[in-house]
Amino acid sequence: MKNKKKLYIETYGCQMNFSDSEIVTSIMLENNYEVTNDISGADVIFVNTCSIRDNAEQRVKGRLREFYTHKKRKPNLIIGVLGCMAERLKSRLLEEEKLVDLIVGPDSYRDLPKLMQTVIGGSRAINILLSTEETYADIKPVRIGTKGVSAFISIMRGCENFCSYCVVPYTRGKERSRNPETIIEEAHNLFEKGYREITLLGQNVNSYHWNENGWYFAKLLEKVATINPKLRLRFATSHPKDISDELLYTIAKYDNICKSIHLPVQSGSDRILKLMNRKYTRDWYLNRVNAIKKIIPECTISTDIISGFCSETESDHNDTLSLMEIVGYQYAFMFKYSERPNTIAAKKLKDDVPDKVKITRLQEIIVLQQKLSLKSNKNDVGKTFEVLIEGESKRSENHLSGRNSQNKIVVFPKENKKTGEYANVQIHKCTSATLLGEIVQNNE
Ligand code: SAH
Ligand code: SF4
Ligand code: F3S
Repeated sequence: MKNKKKLYIETYGCQMNFSDSEIVTSIMLENNYEVTNDISGADVIFVNTCSIRDNAEQRVKGRLREFYTHKKRKPNLIIGVLGCMAERLKSRLLEEEKLVDLIVGPDSYRDLPKLMQTVIGGSRAINILLSTEETYADIKPVRIGTKGVSAFISIMRGCENFCSYCVVPYTRGKERSRNPETIIEEAHNLFEKGYREITLLGQNVNSYHWNENGWYFAKLLEKVATINPKLRLRFATSHPKDISDELLYTIAKYDNICKSIHLPVQSGSDRILKLMNRKYTRDWYLNRVNAIKKIIPECTISTDIISGFCSETESDHNDTLSLMEIVGYQYAFMFKYSERPNTIAAKKLKDDVPDKVKITRLQEIIVLQQKLSLKSNKNDVGKTFEVLIEGESKRSENHLSGRNSQNKIVVFPKENKKTGEYANVQIHKCTSATLLGEIVQNNE
């Protein structure tokens, strides 16, 4: 057997990036590499990067400095920057970060074997071409860092929404959907291998479409849901502008389509939403939330919020707080606005909210969200949920941890249950982050 070279891969950013790292790993394994978790023994270090906020980029730059210490010790070590920072900074990254050997954008991973040959030959290599077609549909991702219970399937790539603050349309290129047959086949295979939960991924999954035979997101979701009732389905992210009643009825119809929707709102103020180019109003958003509450009453809603966007006033900020109360989010990802070079906001709007104000407002949003999460969890005390077990609880080896359909973390005493099985758990107590309970009956 030929001696395999060792690849260490580190991933930042969104779930799409984690899914891409599985594609990269697959391509590298085909080319005589094996994965290692031990960075000091690696022949190649890849860092799959995120550009969404400045601090995401700074973290990666810090990590690159740490990688150099390994390179000093081992001059043949190859360091590659993949993903959104590669796409945003292009060859500037080679100039700024002198020890980077390889730069590969998100649509160029098929070119990795060739690029690696160039680097091994002694030159630096770069491919940052964006594609209008690439979906890696035929590449079987190598699942890394999973316990064999949950997996991601990318169903589309890119984004053309051009929210004014966002780099993604520039780093990921045009929106394109993946052939539905390859998605369904991948889901089948995962179920056969023992996986019990799949998350369909895209920057804007509800605009999925495939012309042949008229596929759209609700139809795809339904098709994957019918593979097996024991296979749970989640999806992220939905854009509020296209969350249709038909999609909501499909979610309601199948027990195994999870009753939790991630619906990023960003702001509760109409004026700010317009400046953000989000293409919906506060009323439109609340109308969609009402539709969810009516069609799927047990559904939880989570969101993303940005504090301190350009020109945001105290009254805009209060609109965000009041909207959060009305919706009663179960969970939120909350950020302060970070201006990204070359976005519409960077070109046309002034980043004029002082950092201190951004932080104060963010803190108010976080405190309110904790209160809303606790309220939502308290409401579940006494209820019984079917929980898919993901592993041992971090705090105690006598407890298991998993999620209910509503995407809430549930912790309970082990009894005879194992990772990957379902358990019916009655909730006795909660914190703002976790439901605590006990198994009430075996259902497997
Ligand atoms: N496609 C998804 C989200 C992608 S990015 C959607 O449209 O909902 C994830 C989140 O990062 C966004 O929802 C937004 O809240 C946040 N974000 C994006 N750009 C940002 C910026 N420049 N500053 C702060 N937060 C940002
Ligand atoms: Fe960015 Fe908007 Fe596209 Fe989401 S929808 S990735 S926030 S441009
Ligand atoms: Fe970051 Fe790129 Fe995802 S910028 S959030 S890794 S699409």
